[in-house]
Amino acid sequence: MYPLQQISRRLASAEAVREVRSGMVLGLGSGRAVAAVIQALGRRMAAEGLAISAVSASRATARQAEAVGIRLLPGDDVPELDLGFDGADLLSEDLQLIKGGGGALVRERLVALGCRRWVIVAEEEKMRADLRGALLPVALVAFGHEATARRIGALGLRATARRTAQGRVRRSDDGFALYDCLDEAGRPLAMVFEALAALPGVIDTGYFTGMADAAYIGSQHGVRRITACRARAR
Ligand code: A5P
Repeated sequence: MYPLQQISRRLASAEAVREVRSGMVLGLGSGRAVAAVIQALGRRMAAEGLAISAVSASRATARQAEAVGIRLLPGDDVPELDLGFDGADLLSEDLQLIKGGGGALVRERLVALGCRRWVIVAEEEKMRADLRGALLPVALVAFGHEATARRIGALGLRATARRTAQGRVRRSDDGFALYDCLDEAGRPLAMVFEALAALPGVIDTGYFTGMADAAYIGSQHGVRRITACRARAR
């Protein structure tokens, strides 16, 4: 018996990969939804002989992609990518996203920026009317990250380091220190993002807006597609 979210991700992924054509160069984010997308791609590759290459936003995704026969391109350059797939921790109907639960937010944004079309795959449970007050992942330069976290605190945000089982601060694939920020005042995320982005030592946050072209949202009732109603802001 599969958990419902896993079934939702599987349904949404199967629908999303219908956008893929043979010869495309894809951008792949990271997380469980992307893993489901890769499985769905693998099934299409086996059934239809699709040839797919991709740039991956994490080492874990790279391993999953290679296992189904997707040719991986080196990440030194992110060329223009035909289509990108990624997941989200939370999202709203106007395609504002919170990402970075898995810690890959910096590379995920870089991959997304390279994609001509970027789509999200997620479960209905992640939909929110408003993202205010949600936990916001941030990646900090490892050098001086505790001092940077205190400066984040001075902005009125509570910054908590993610820890490994051994108590060390969790690092991204690129060695950035990973924190989660909570704005108890519940200000609009765009405002919080601006304040964080201006702070030296902050590499990026998990607030992605104006980037996704569409989202495939799965639930036990099926899959619905949300389409961005305006041109991407990037
Ligand atoms: C990884 O850093 C994230 O941005 C993921 O895309 C996000 O956490 C969603 O992950 P799941 O698909 O595993 O829920």
